[in-house]
Amino acid sequence: MTPSRPLFIPVILGTVRSGRMSERAAHLVTEEIGKRAGIETELIDIAKLPLPTHDAGEAIKHAEFATKMERADAIVIVSPEYNHGYCGLLKHVLDSCLKEYIHKAVGIVGVSAGPFGGSRVIQNLLPVMRELGLVTIFWDVNFSSVQAAFSQDGSLLDSSYIRRIDKFLKELIWMARTLRYGREQVPQE
Ligand SMILES: Cc1cc2nc3c(=O)[nH]c(=O)nc-3n(C[C@H](O)[C@H](O)[C@H](O)COP(=O)(O)O)c2cc1C
Repeated sequence: MTPSRPLFIPVILGTVRSGRMSERAAHLVTEEIGKRAGIETELIDIAKLPLPTHDAGEAIKHAEFATKMERADAIVIVSPEYNHGYCGLLKHVLDSCLKEYIHKAVGIVGVSAGPFGGSRVIQNLLPVMRELGLVTIFWDVNFSSVQAAFSQDGSLLDSSYIRRIDKFLKELIWMARTLRYGREQVPQE
């Protein structure tokens, strides 16, 4: 099946922390998506989304972010693990949209300083994804001991991540294509 237009799979960098290591993982995943034919991507840094904090939900929808979510066929969320949870501002940004996510695929990249590769933050994000109408895939990427995975200049030191990202993206892209077909061709009763 040849899609009529490229898939759009943006990557959301889910932390605003100064000195965040997750930024390196987010750049790497964005680069790997960008290498694939027929797929467009871009990195969305939540630190650059000036959402107000005196309100929440769709009341503070950011037009540019909402347009990107509407256009997306899948999203990748790169999330560090903070006390086994996600950055509160990631949730604040995600909550600003709803219908834009429905029947779209999502893949999660967990990042941690510890040995579990953000597996606990991934588990905590899964019920949020479901409530937003996103469809999770059964493959994740786990950056454990992230401080050892990249050099100071941000280049990857452990090449095994490329293989893992490849497996993750193959599954995400399959799900993105399948769900696009469903959204466009399968009527909902
Ligand atoms: C508030 C806070 C809580 C954290 N909690 C955890 C944790 O529960 N498990 C873990 O492995 N690392 C934890 N870390 C370390 C981060 O995973 C580490 O900083 C890693 O580099 C990813 O986050 P970053 O993108 O902000 O750098 C925590 C860091 C912060 C700032």
